Amino acid sequence: MKKISVIGAGNVGASTVQRLAESKFGDIVMLDVVPGLPQGKALDLMQAAPLIGYDVNIKGTNNYADIEGSDIVIITAGIARKPGMTRDDLLSINAKITKEVCGNIRQYAPKSIVVTVTNPLDIITYAVYKYTEFGKKRVFGMSGLLDSTRFASFVAQEVGCSVKDINAMVLGGHGDSMVPLPQYTTVSGVPISEFLPHETIDRLVTRTINAGAEIVSLLKEGSAFYAPSAAIVAMVDAIVNDSGRVLPASVYLEGEYGFNDLCLGVPAKLGKNGIEKVIEINLTQEQMAALSSSEKAVRSGIEKLDMGIHEKAFLV
Ligand code: APR
Repeated sequence: MKKISVIGAGNVGASTVQRLAESKFGDIVMLDVVPGLPQGKALDLMQAAPLIGYDVNIKGTNNYADIEGSDIVIITAGIARKPGMTRDDLLSINAKITKEVCGNIRQYAPKSIVVTVTNPLDIITYAVYKYTEFGKKRVFGMSGLLDSTRFASFVAQEVGCSVKDINAMVLGGHGDSMVPLPQYTTVSGVPISEFLPHETIDRLVTRTINAGAEIVSLLKEGSAFYAPSAAIVAMVDAIVNDSGRVLPASVYLEGEYGFNDLCLGVPAKLGKNGIEKVIEINLTQEQMAALSSSEKAVRSGIEKLDMGIHEKAFLV
């Protein structure tokens, strides 16, 4: 049985805990700064267990000592977007929260694999990589899988086929500069260009890039959480079951795709140790140019990050 901790018991955190419990991977700790919030949600989820049939323990807490010995820690703590905000607008607040969270992960779960979800995703993942010093295998961000499932759902609706037959790939930063790859998106292995005209594919690409904002503007308060939690749990599944699935993930790059010292969405093989391998796929000149723009956007965010990375005093 694995021990999985979820930091942040808001929309993304709590729905992730629900999906993790239903997947029966192991015991779960849900932590939040707000007193009572994680405890109340954990109780509610435990009371659903006899009906759904999961025999795992779910503990809600405000105390980091409870994450002790976790195999996997998922960071969802932070503020979410409001209408009109970009993910980058969240940077200064969420970076401070991340710093505090990482100090506690280092202390209580030093052997864990850390999956980041808090936005702006690639920048926060970079901060977590630096703050935890866990290495590139054990720190990565969930974003490309969410963008890919969004693209896949739009393609399935447009083609009028089962979502099960769609394989979609979106690379780059989790923001306006993301790079959906229609050429690598298929219906049962057949390129989508066989099913859809160029204009339709372009429209779906644009909708994918704006998919998060579309939901934010409809919800008015908060951002997406059903698809994000599904993507997180798919990545956790690949780790827990050591499946070797190749999924897009925001990973610290050291020369892959020609980029260094930043986190960016690329295909990666996931297994029991976290990121087993970064997969370098062939990109057209146009796709590579789009990935380079995405890299520049993420790097400029990292430059804005007041990391104090070399000040270790914060590490409790
Ligand atoms: N430690 C622990 N939890 C914290 C901290 C902290 N220092 N600061 C804030 N939180 C908690 C909040 O109390 C809240 O319960 O994080 C939770 C965030 O929940 P929501 O506001 O519902 O946000 P959510 O939709 O879950 O999104 C969380 O994931 O997808 C990203 O952009 C999204 O950055 C956002 C994050």
